[in-house]
Amino acid sequence: MLLAGNWKMHGLRGAVAEIRALGRGLNGAPLPADILVCPPATLINEAVKAAEGTRIVIGGQNCHAEPSGAFTGEISAEMLRDAGANAVILGHSERRQFYGETDAMVRAKAEAASRAGLIALICVGEDERQRDAGEAVSVVQKQLDGSVPASAPADPIDLVIAYEPVWAIGTGRTPNPEQIAEMHAAIRAWLADRFGAAADQMRILYGGSVKPENAGTILAVTNVDGALIGGASLKAGDFLAIIRAVPQR
Ligand code: PGA
Repeated sequence: MLLAGNWKMHGLRGAVAEIRALGRGLNGAPLPADILVCPPATLINEAVKAAEGTRIVIGGQNCHAEPSGAFTGEISAEMLRDAGANAVILGHSERRQFYGETDAMVRAKAEAASRAGLIALICVGEDERQRDAGEAVSVVQKQLDGSVPASAPADPIDLVIAYEPVWAIGTGRTPNPEQIAEMHAAIRAWLADRFGAAADQMRILYGGSVKPENAGTILAVTNVDGALIGGASLKAGDFLAIIRAVPQR
């Protein structure tokens, strides 16, 4: 199980206190999941310090495909790693929608993440029109075809797929458990087709309006290996409530 917080473009330096609070809240108790927090890049260094001595790991929200070069404003996977990050979110729907990221770009970034030794969380998900048209599964399969690297990372646990229906992000709406189960089964089958037995170790997260109130139900769905959490990851109290909602397996 992996619970990943995506802070998006939220948080000035003071926000790192939430990571300290999260760490204190987790103290001592056996963790039901790996905990990842992905703050804005400006906070990674401070976040890594705040997470020291806890089991929280820190990640980025995007990276460039090249290790370095004349790419003003960009940050490479190697730079994230150097700042102390262990993971990176790639191809989030906001990046696909607002910054024109294509499947091919996401795949190149995922290869870069692997090269730098980062866990890659590759995001996929249909929009509302595609869901209504009955195309959700085929849309996601096509995104996987284009976005996932051809070869598995050395440790298959380092490849994570996050299923985030665009219409569920930040809206308070979520698919029902049957819809989540159908999509996660389709993603597992796709991974097995591409990577064989290693697919069993790859984690498939659900994302989109995960809150303390619905986390228990969503995380109990077959093939749901965790969650990617936006708004509810910003406050340690909400994130802790989601962690406590992880069902026993
Ligand atoms: P949300 O965002 O939990 O605020 O809906 C999820 C995401 O975009 O990763």
